[in-house]
Amino acid sequence: MVEIAPSILSADFTRLGEQIAAVEQAGASYIHVDVMDGHFVPNLTLGPFIVEWVRRATNLPIDTHLMIEDPDKFIGAFAKAGANLISVHPEATYHLHRTVHFIRDAGCQAGVVLNPATPLAMIEDVLADVNYVLLMSVNPGFGGQKFISASLDKLRRLRELIRQRNPQVRIEIDGGIGVETAGDVVAAGAEILVAGSAIFGQPDPGQAVQALIRAASVPIRGGAVA
Ligand code: DX5
Ligand code: ZN
Repeated sequence: MVEIAPSILSADFTRLGEQIAAVEQAGASYIHVDVMDGHFVPNLTLGPFIVEWVRRATNLPIDTHLMIEDPDKFIGAFAKAGANLISVHPEATYHLHRTVHFIRDAGCQAGVVLNPATPLAMIEDVLADVNYVLLMSVNPGFGGQKFISASLDKLRRLRELIRQRNPQVRIEIDGGIGVETAGDVVAAGAEILVAGSAIFGQPDPGQAVQALIRAASVPIRGGAVA
């Protein structure tokens, strides 16, 4: 089943609780929280404090995407704040296997993230230890960027690698996902779709979630972005 993870990066923070309630009611499966430190990516966002407020606003699992250097320092704080899933970039930590186990020991599902230029080989040897792989289909740092179409081929290769190494691992995709791209990424193997501007950039975020669910359920094979 395809699941939607709205990214609050594009939400109206003056009405955060209301916007989270709208996407939850519309059928979203997670709330995606983008944590940026101004070093690993050229933007600054939020910390555990906001995750605590998101926790109070929803019962959905909180999917925390750490775009920060040395994530080991903060895993405990995010888990304590209410994160349920935590993902890290392999370039941001010296010992990815240890970091993944820190996440699991903190009681969260562990994910590893691939940037557009990061080869699959970077995460191959931890596939036995993770719950999901997050494939970036834009360079991380900002919402509203254009989907990189080479991500479709990478998704297919990731799907095959996971089939061989650990079929339990789920595939999440993040960046430039909207009604035009949803069908193609699902056809290529994505199971969890992150979307920021395509949901919170719309006048009615609840309706936007439903439109995305519909688009994701009707894959346009070899269609719009292939
Ligand atoms: C980008 C973030 C994304 C971002 C996606 O670094 O990881 O989660 O919110 O935004 P859209 O869906 O607008 O591309
Ligand atoms: Zn993200």
